[in-house]
Amino acid sequence: MADATRHPFLHGLSKHRGSPPTVIVIFGASGDLTARKLIPAIYNLAHDGLLPAEFFLIGYGRKPIPDAEFQQVAAGAIREFSRRELNAEVWARLARRTLYVSGGYDEKAAFDRLAARIAGLEQETGQQLQTLFYISTPPGVFAPIIQNLGASGLARRYLGQPHQSKVVIEKPFGRDLASARVLNRELSTVFAEPQVFRIDHYLGKETVQDLLVQRFANAIFEPIWNRNFIEHVQITVAEQVGVEARAGYYEQSGCLRDMIQNHTMQLLALTAMEPPVSMDAESVRDEKVKVLKAIEPLRLDGARSDVARAQYAEGVIAGRPVRGYLQEADVAPTSATETYAALRLSINNWRWHGVPFYLRSGKHLARRVSEIAVRFKRAPGSLFAEAERFQLAANTLAFQIQPDEGLSLILNAKIPGLETRTQPVKMNFKYATTFGSNTPEAYERLVLDAMIGDGTLFIRGDETERSWQLCTPVLAHWQEQGRTGLDTYASGSWGPKSADALLAANGDAWREP
Ligand code: BG6
Repeated sequence: MADATRHPFLHGLSKHRGSPPTVIVIFGASGDLTARKLIPAIYNLAHDGLLPAEFFLIGYGRKPIPDAEFQQVAAGAIREFSRRELNAEVWARLARRTLYVSGGYDEKAAFDRLAARIAGLEQETGQQLQTLFYISTPPGVFAPIIQNLGASGLARRYLGQPHQSKVVIEKPFGRDLASARVLNRELSTVFAEPQVFRIDHYLGKETVQDLLVQRFANAIFEPIWNRNFIEHVQITVAEQVGVEARAGYYEQSGCLRDMIQNHTMQLLALTAMEPPVSMDAESVRDEKVKVLKAIEPLRLDGARSDVARAQYAEGVIAGRPVRGYLQEADVAPTSATETYAALRLSINNWRWHGVPFYLRSGKHLARRVSEIAVRFKRAPGSLFAEAERFQLAANTLAFQIQPDEGLSLILNAKIPGLETRTQPVKMNFKYATTFGSNTPEAYERLVLDAMIGDGTLFIRGDETERSWQLCTPVLAHWQEQGRTGLDTYASGSWGPKSADALLAANGDAWREP
């Protein structure tokens, strides 16, 4: 079939933001993500005039409700979760185009009804409409939805043309390598790869996209972005929230599946990949896959193990005492689910050989903060060797992904005075100061990119499989071990001792972000 990644709406990191006339169908219309993220994202796109003139939103769910009721639910979601207040005029225009179709996910007849409704919209508008299917259901029904999109012919609408059908698929994309492969196979029997958009919402974050701009639009970084100058890299995705009301999901998942396999690995790939030949989807994703392939298998046992895992115990967060994981609602009293994971990765290629990449993520940590900290080697020689006079730190470049978005660089400076003394100082760039704070949410960018057909910020099938290939042996090992070797950490701390030991073995330490 024609290469749909080369159509006129697509320009890598999107120069051109025009989408063809579109119907977005959300499977899982009554779900949490739909209310919190998807509907507010679509509303904000409408607010910014980024939706095509002919645009429809169809909620699809099991519950039979009239269009009007879904419109009310959508308005409620915008009021509660949108970054902007609901503007009556913008909403009135969108509400008229917000519809609902009810049916089971394994009910072919319901998909035929959906197809008929879409055909009706085409007749009404006199336009060919691109269909974007957004699968935001629990993973148990991914397969029947995909199959029915195939059986009803919906998947093949305008195939090979820029406005061919597209499918966005939410996480979790599999729970190990085998299931991710099965899901990729199921998708590929119905859709061609350029029609498939696997979401990792971290890629939609402004700061994550800025990482590519910083790396490749500034000539000063590339010459030093390698093992000759960099000592190690630390990637932290720390959350202050606990498992909240999601134990049902989280007990089956744990931190490695929930955060490391996807979000943190993506941050690593963007930090470590080679410069792509262009910013289009395939070039960027080729480089990400290449660097993921260069990561060595993790050592799982013994003193040089590359992995640590732990569960939060009780502690204090924001001045309040909080429960430990095992005391949370719907958590098994003997649960071995990790709420924290840390990895030490070695990338065996010319650029990174010998540079450890440390990854960590956890819930109930001291603060919510995500950052990538690149630590450079210390200045050689003995010009400033006298420890009492010369306080020196290693140069560290930190990309603050969230919440205080920015970029900082630690340098050593002379303390003003007649005697030469030094102290580390921090140069800080803050997004909010330079650009203001009302930046688009990740989902706005990703929904728009999918409508345009730009897959740059989505995960390709081989990419997700490679990442699972690295994580699956770790998961299998942990499952086999049960609670043996599972560390704990006080809620509100920066994590377990075993994660500190992972770095100490190399003479390194986690930095406090
Ligand atoms: C999701 C995880 O993918 O990311 C959640 O399932 C986590 O457990 C969330 O809380 C974090 O996202 P963000 O954008 O708030 O950092």
